[in-house]
Amino acid sequence: MSSQFPIQKLNEVETPFYYYNMQLLDDTLSVIQTEANKYNYHIHYAVKANANKRILERVNSFGFGADCVSGNEVTASLAAGFTNDKVVFAGVGKADKEIITGLENDIACFNVESIPELEVINEIAERMGKTANIALRINPNVKANTHKYITTGLEENKFGIYIWDIEKVLDKIEELNNVNFVGIHFHIGSQINDLDSFKQLCTRVNELQQDIFIKRRAIPKIVNVGGGLGIDYDNPDDNPMPDFEKFFAIFDEFLELQEGQEVHFELGRSVVCQCGTLMSKVLYVKEGVSTHFAIIDAGMSDLIRPALYQAYHKIENLTSTLEEDKYDVVGPICESSDCFGKAVTLPKTGRGDLMAIRSAGAYGEVMANQYNLRELPQAIYSDLI
Ligand code: LLP
Repeated sequence: MSSQFPIQKLNEVETPFYYYNMQLLDDTLSVIQTEANKYNYHIHYAVKANANKRILERVNSFGFGADCVSGNEVTASLAAGFTNDKVVFAGVGKADKEIITGLENDIACFNVESIPELEVINEIAERMGKTANIALRINPNVKANTHKYITTGLEENKFGIYIWDIEKVLDKIEELNNVNFVGIHFHIGSQINDLDSFKQLCTRVNELQQDIFIKRRAIPKIVNVGGGLGIDYDNPDDNPMPDFEKFFAIFDEFLELQEGQEVHFELGRSVVCQCGTLMSKVLYVKEGVSTHFAIIDAGMSDLIRPALYQAYHKIENLTSTLEEDKYDVVGPICESSDCFGKAVTLPKTGRGDLMAIRSAGAYGEVMANQYNLRELPQAIYSDLI
């Protein structure tokens, strides 16, 4: 059982809720800062992982930028204190009004994914009397060893500009007056624990720089290698953060930079995942044919990852110390996929026990919804409880 939780206090809070260990968040941010500073790497936090205001403010206080994928994320980041020169806007389908939001706020860069998008940004910028800094998101066709729903850097995915189209896009940029080419951008997927994938990305970036950008003398100032570093869902207490030292060292070793080039990262999950836990209470224990069901008051509306990606989250009973048994831990929602874990070994569990669903700080609260007209989960912070 995990002893990091103030169980007595948490027991008094109405469930379900997200509990954030702010000390762990600070420790993680501080390690990222130290390791990235060794190489002057720039970090933009991927807001999509968790857009909770206090978390954004904490990330900002460490001097990182914000990587946004919607106009509302841009607005939320600015409201949380990120300065516009550290806000970037990516996404395969930016709506006109979102582009306007970015331009009105003079954000640092738009990561562009297609020629039609480039033309629209140019047109809107022209109308507004602005010039948009743009980076080209390139689909590097590098296979990341991860879940099929969260791999993004392959030709079959909808993301990015294909390698064979880059020259055409550069020609287009030369024709347009209100876009300014500043960078190239890559992202190969998420929850990547096999660091070889990042080595391969470096090799591909080097090839593209040599074969296309250097040849054309269109050398991008920014090389953005995206996010994707995975975390340990199995043992969150043993590995409360990934090996950032090793991660950044790979890019230092394998990426060949041109004079004056900056390296940017967009880390999401690895920053916030382990600091968040979904807390829930057991409503009923029901005897099934071959299993006990522990029916808890959190559902897939609070944390959708198990239902959507068959994702594993470690589940703990924080209040029972009885002999162990096996349970299917399920939520109250009218869907069979509303299940957090099958045959989970737990101490004997009963009504009112406090359950912790671990490693839920990334893509947890931010993906919560109101299916079945349920309330959205609250957030509780270790430093305010
Ligand atoms: N940059 C781009 C362009 C991205 O698409 C993503 C994530 C990131 C950065 C941040 O990646 P991270 O460091 O968090 O791996 N909802 C899914 C994950 C979707 C990831 C989408 N893109 C999940 O719960 O596993």
